[in-house]
Amino acid sequence: MSAVVKLSNVHKSFGSLQVLNGVSFDVNRGEVVAIIGQSGSGKSTALRCINALETIEQGSIEVCGHQIHSPALDKRALRLDVGIVFQSYNLFPHLTAEQNVMLAPTCVRKLGKKEARDLAQDCLARVGLAEKAGHYPEQLSGGQQQRVAIARSLAMQPKVMLFDEVTSALDPQLTGEVLKVMEDLAKGGMTMILVTHEMGFARKVASNVIYMRNGKVWETLPGHELNNPQTAELREFIGHDL
Ligand SMILES: Nc1ncnc2c1ncn2[C@@H]1O[C@H](COP(=O)(O)OP(=O)(O)OP(=O)(O)O)[C@@H](O)[C@H]1O
Ligand SMILES: [Mg+2]
Repeated sequence: MSAVVKLSNVHKSFGSLQVLNGVSFDVNRGEVVAIIGQSGSGKSTALRCINALETIEQGSIEVCGHQIHSPALDKRALRLDVGIVFQSYNLFPHLTAEQNVMLAPTCVRKLGKKEARDLAQDCLARVGLAEKAGHYPEQLSGGQQQRVAIARSLAMQPKVMLFDEVTSALDPQLTGEVLKVMEDLAKGGMTMILVTHEMGFARKVASNVIYMRNGKVWETLPGHELNNPQTAELREFIGHDL
């Protein structure tokens, strides 16, 4: 099986602060990898490096055949293959859910109006929001807005999706709705890398869990083994969460 995402010995610092200190991991097609770890351990930075939102100083990153560390990287082509969803949804407030989802397919993929609308309908249906297509963001709950943001990303038909703590701003019920959408995506075969504090979700859905600590991959284990960590540090981190 060939890796869709491959990080090899990645180093990244901000000034004198070494944030990624030799990070290596592979993600194969259809795998779901959950990244967990203390605040400041470099989880978001790792995701941002994968999508070339940060440059790296040493090592290499390959994503869907794109060499992220190469000066010749075509960022536009990369971003057609990689979708990223953040904790903040950043929907356009003056556009409906459907219009928000249609925007990138129309502007970037140059789809016609009808084709883009059909695609938006399809993507909104996948996140359980077909009937909210005409609603503006302020008429939607936080969980619904986050699902629109996921639909917007899906509309670009990415090969890999990155999620950075997409449920952290939501209350437990809305969190559940969004996690359900992500679980369905995983079952549908989407390759996903997600940073999460939802240990139960990681255990249930993740093929592999990566525990980051001090800018390193401290421990990697299958999701279903999350209740049986090998290192004392991960055991302490998980604590009574499971
Ligand atoms: N643009 C930046 N400039 C300077 N320092 C940064 C920048 N981005 C992140 N850092 C620092 O890098 C370290 C790692 O940050 P990162 O956001 O990757 O952590 P994280 O594991 O995602 O934490 P959290 O769980 O709080 O989101 C932190 O000490 C942070 O302050
Ligand atoms: Mg973070």
